[in-house]
Amino acid sequence: MDHETIFPTRAHTVDTAYGKIDCNKLTLDKFVDAHVYPSVDDSGQPAIFRERDPYRFVLMAAVAFGEMSIKSLCHSKRILDVGCGGGQLSACMAQEAKGVWLADPDCANKQNPVHQLFNPQFIIDDKIQDALTYLPELQGAFDLVTSFATRPIPLYVSTPNEAQYQDSLAYFKSMISACKLGGSIIIMPIYEYDLGLKGGIQELTTLLKPSFFHVDIYKITLDKPINQPFFSVFVVAERKHTT
Ligand SMILES: C[S@@+](CC[C@H](N)C(=O)[O-])C[C@H]1O[C@@H](n2cnc3c(N)ncnc32)[C@H](O)[C@@H]1O
Repeated sequence: MDHETIFPTRAHTVDTAYGKIDCNKLTLDKFVDAHVYPSVDDSGQPAIFRERDPYRFVLMAAVAFGEMSIKSLCHSKRILDVGCGGGQLSACMAQEAKGVWLADPDCANKQNPVHQLFNPQFIIDDKIQDALTYLPELQGAFDLVTSFATRPIPLYVSTPNEAQYQDSLAYFKSMISACKLGGSIIIMPIYEYDLGLKGGIQELTTLLKPSFFHVDIYKITLDKPINQPFFSVFVVAERKHTT
């Protein structure tokens, strides 16, 4: 089956606030480490304002998905944001979604801003792989499962030991099982080693492929033509309707 038959709703050209983007020119055969933190952008605006703008990252995810806005990415969807951190990106999606659930062990920290942004009933303050064992109702429950600045292993680790590697595997397997049939996954690793997988992006795509129609890697920038350096990378996959 060709890509159009599988993913008929994917737009060819999306018209974002930053100009027209041809989604079909964004696909990559292999992962390239993202470059999302330049010191200034074309406009001369210090990057610190941009990198803290959650809207930009979620809009980039929408473009990777072939949607032209955060609204069309999230509308009517039940979303799980895995590794939500402070929940800023989750909150951005929640404005348009049917509901957003968040999972991150860091939510156990009461100082985490997520507690100001979300009702506690949507916050899971645990590793996603552990939460799925005692909350089995989360399995297959989400239209969209996201992971932004994916980092299942500790920040200081560049090469995972066996236990960290197993944790990373469990993280991605949990994302798959939380995604309902016909649903989708969006993963935004900044660097390939962030995945915590011995086989990097190749291993991630091999892990995803049996459950998804297609697994694509997109390189997205909202600043400049796509061959210019400031970009982020997204792995997008659409779950098969049957297993
Ligand atoms: C680099 S932060 C990204 C935070 C947020 N997504 C963002 O873009 O601002 C990675 C987050 O993943 C969380 N994390 C690591 N392992 C996890 C796991 N097994 N389940 C859920 N979250 C996890 C960490 O606690 C951390 O908050």
